Amino acid sequence: MNAPANSSLSPAALLDKLAPLGDTSYSLDRCADLAGMIAEINRLKDERRAIVLAHNYQRPEIFEVADFIGDSLELARKAREVTDADVIVFCGVHFMAETAKVFNPERKVLLPDMRAGCSLADAVTAEALADRAADLREVYPDLKVVSYVNCTADVKALSDACCTSANAVKIVERIDSDNILFVPDRNLANYVAENTRKRIISWDGNCYVHHQITPEEVDRVKRSIPGIKVLAHPECRKDVLELADAVLSTSAMMRYARESEADKFLVVTECGLSDRLLMEIPDKRFYKACKLCRFMKMITLEGTLDSLQNLRHEIELSDEVQKGARRALERMLELSA
Ligand code: 13P
Ligand code: SF4
Repeated sequence: MNAPANSSLSPAALLDKLAPLGDTSYSLDRCADLAGMIAEINRLKDERRAIVLAHNYQRPEIFEVADFIGDSLELARKAREVTDADVIVFCGVHFMAETAKVFNPERKVLLPDMRAGCSLADAVTAEALADRAADLREVYPDLKVVSYVNCTADVKALSDACCTSANAVKIVERIDSDNILFVPDRNLANYVAENTRKRIISWDGNCYVHHQITPEEVDRVKRSIPGIKVLAHPECRKDVLELADAVLSTSAMMRYARESEADKFLVVTECGLSDRLLMEIPDKRFYKACKLCRFMKMITLEGTLDSLQNLRHEIELSDEVQKGARRALERMLELSA
């Protein structure tokens, strides 16, 4: 979503926007601090010719400075289209900022906090992937590696194509092999395997946020709120997905909730998305799984301001990794077109 950044928002207006989220830390004093930072970030964006890209899981106050908010696929596409900026500040996690750098090797790409990683990206290294793919090619000479974008750029560089949660089934269906090594998310791999006849050989990673959600928790809510629609992210376990009315990427959940005739939803993904849903679709009710991604939440407005003031922390990639990762990402965009 294109989000025209708000250059001057009064503390009271900001509190009006944030109070319905039910987080009591948004007091008038806190909103005064946030409003000051929002104004300064927007001033610095002009001065530095910078844009801010933000993932759907970011804090609500980050949405106030974002030029674009989206899921991984939308953010990758947006990063590829940037033409009129010298600096991209990425409010998301490290692998997403790397993707922005892959598409913008000549621009400065900044991540406000370098600790903002991802348990999935940590689950596979380029060395381990190269070894496993070489072993499997002895048995399946036509093997293709499809990597979920939640991995490092050097893992992407060893992949035949990337995919996101929005297009994983389509990429696997369209890639020219029946034998796929799918890295690094086992839950997403299982979901893909259920929706294709191809052989899916899965890596053993998981998203620690989604993997902890149990079917018992979902079932309890379903039984206590008749008519509620369950929207689940495909990083969830199979027994959770079986209880869902729809399995969707984060932005697809936004579209589904907006267009559906239903007015109550259980949003089975990271909590930040429910905040965005509540802010943008105030006439419907959203129940959340209350799971926070500690990596996504490392990005703060304070950190974003510091990033723009001091032009840090810069994402750097070798030429070889940048070119290899770009090939796999471009292949994804071609296959999902
Ligand atoms: P989306 O691609 O659906 O935005 O998901 C990204 C992610 O990190 C989910 O945990
Ligand atoms: Fe990674 Fe999970 Fe956090 Fe998404 S929610 S960034 S997959 S740890």
